[in-house]
Amino acid sequence: MSILKKVEQFREEEERLRWEGTFADYLELLKEKPWIAQTAHSRVYNMIKDAGVEEVNGKKEYSFFKDQLYGVEESLEKLVEEYFHSAAKRLDVRKRILLLMGPVSGGKSTLVTMLKRGLEQYSKTDKGAVFAIKGCPMHEDPLHLIPTHLRKDFQEEYGIKIEGNLSPLNMMRVEEEYGGRIEDVLVERIFFSEDKRTGIGTFSPSDPKSQDIADLTGSIDFSTIAEYGSESDPRAYRFDGELNKANRGMMEFQEMLKCDEKFLWHLLSLTQEGNFKAGRFALISADELIVAHTNESEYKSFISNKKNEALHSRIIVMKVPYNLKVSEEERIYKKMIQDSDLAHVHIAPHALKVAAIFTILTRLKEPSKQGVDLLKKMRLYDGESVEGFNSQDLEELKQEDPDEGMSGIDPRYVINRISSAIIRKQLTSINALDVLRSIKEGLSEHASISKEDRERYMDFIAIARKEYDAIAKKEVQKAFVYSYDESAKTLMDNYLDNVEAYCNKNKLRDPLTGEEMTPDEKLMRSIEEQIGISENAKKAFREEILIRISAYARKGKKFDYNSHERLREAIQKKLFADLKDIVKITTSTKTPDESQLKKVNEVIARLIDEHGYNSVSANELLRYVGSLLNR
Ligand SMILES: Nc1ncnc2c1ncn2[C@@H]1O[C@H](COP(=O)(O)OP(=O)(O)OP(=O)(O)O)[C@@H](O)[C@H]1O
Ligand SMILES: [Mg+2]
Repeated sequence: MSILKKVEQFREEEERLRWEGTFADYLELLKEKPWIAQTAHSRVYNMIKDAGVEEVNGKKEYSFFKDQLYGVEESLEKLVEEYFHSAAKRLDVRKRILLLMGPVSGGKSTLVTMLKRGLEQYSKTDKGAVFAIKGCPMHEDPLHLIPTHLRKDFQEEYGIKIEGNLSPLNMMRVEEEYGGRIEDVLVERIFFSEDKRTGIGTFSPSDPKSQDIADLTGSIDFSTIAEYGSESDPRAYRFDGELNKANRGMMEFQEMLKCDEKFLWHLLSLTQEGNFKAGRFALISADELIVAHTNESEYKSFISNKKNEALHSRIIVMKVPYNLKVSEEERIYKKMIQDSDLAHVHIAPHALKVAAIFTILTRLKEPSKQGVDLLKKMRLYDGESVEGFNSQDLEELKQEDPDEGMSGIDPRYVINRISSAIIRKQLTSINALDVLRSIKEGLSEHASISKEDRERYMDFIAIARKEYDAIAKKEVQKAFVYSYDESAKTLMDNYLDNVEAYCNKNKLRDPLTGEEMTPDEKLMRSIEEQIGISENAKKAFREEILIRISAYARKGKKFDYNSHERLREAIQKKLFADLKDIVKITTSTKTPDESQLKKVNEVIARLIDEHGYNSVSANELLRYVGSLLNR
């Protein structure tokens, strides 16, 4: 579809959604769709809920955040349940400013932006529809028109509780324009839009000392005083502060803690009482979510100041720590690269994973649990199975340090290092070693890293490098086997046939000649030795495998290459051991003969076709592995 066609469609859609009627019409509509009278907080909560919630291992995952925020499900669950859900139920937390606290580049702004863009979309849906008094600069809730003394009756009839008073401006308009007949007051459907300053606002303080509260609450329009005769005539006031404009929706308060505390006091009454003071008017009711963000050290210095105590109790702090899963971190980098001008660069397989291993290690706290080191902890966090540990251990590890994830290397640093390596070397292709090298070089320039941390981080670079060596070797060895999976399967089937015959004291039959054979002890041992099974332990190991096979059969499950972790490891090692010499010679020879050359080309082709390399990165990989094997 052409872009102009889409523009037209969009306009038609907006036209279709438009609604305008009198307050009396609105009340009719309200009977049919009572949810349209919900509060701002409740709308945010429902928006998140309506996008879909999944229960994974007893934990909630919200589709709403899925596309943009990875690996922080637990913090999101806390945020949604403890803040939004309670606020939607009109509990007290609604009256506090939501302060997201987290380390740099930990996704705070991303989270807030998602809420804003989400609300804009949601206000166009039936469930998220918002209605307001027509012509009101603050899009005031039409229900404020119901006089206070009738609100109890209203609640009985409609089951809806009204909070907040009619603003001075609308009070005057009802008298002057509608002759006091509230039922005639025009109401319209509104659509949130930050660009149009409807229901979504952002407040970003300038110089803290000269900050003008008018930016938040609007100001007198001096040009109209002559017309209206007085400064206290609401028509002489411009309700165009960020708080006014964000009414019914949300306002992002950037750098809130950098503001002068006097300034913040103005926010107190809004959050606590749901109203704020503007000009010489009675209090103005507002219904909006206020979200601010900050980092830990800024927050700590804020609360350590006695003067801020009262403010402190009006703030709800929610932690937004870094992701702690390697695989999710890799996704974060992929997304950031997609969104950047690096998207055209070839990034060799595992390059981002290796960077992520380094990054996650810098974020993890040293475990105090017995038998767990940082690397094991990293694997457990990423959902890998580590021998001797279960999900209970994982939960215990997570509970050990509540500050975990609040420090370490941020994703933006990694992306910057990747891009600086690319730009400096004019590369069109970058591999894991380039990435690690660039990260390492950057550490000495990174001003905010202490000397101690830098030393620790250097160790992590070495660990990440070791992990990469193992991955690289495996990758090349796999590519050397013609069809890796098939070869592994054949070898395993062969092994299992022999094991079965051995345990049952049977003979095997040669498939070609039909001759009877005794089990091939040499073959079985050559596999078992790969994982250190001794002569004495072999019988138990073989029996255990047979038991596993029959357990699988009983459950109707197929026993395959992945069903027994240690057996799989043994098979893999055996395959690689058989190959080791060929791989070693082929990858390291400077003057390959014809058959070696053929093999190398085959392997490179396989790395490109099946494993996502390009010819540069595949050649680099082979050379590197060659040098590793010859050490
Ligand atoms: N958990 C995460 N999932 C997905 N992307 C993330 C995550 N954490 C950070 N990012 C990405 O990192 C980048 C920086 O994030 P963002 O700007 O939202 O962080 P911030 O907490 O606001 O940082 P700052 O403190 O510097 O303002 C963004 O591109 C964001 O998408
Ligand atoms: Mg930010």
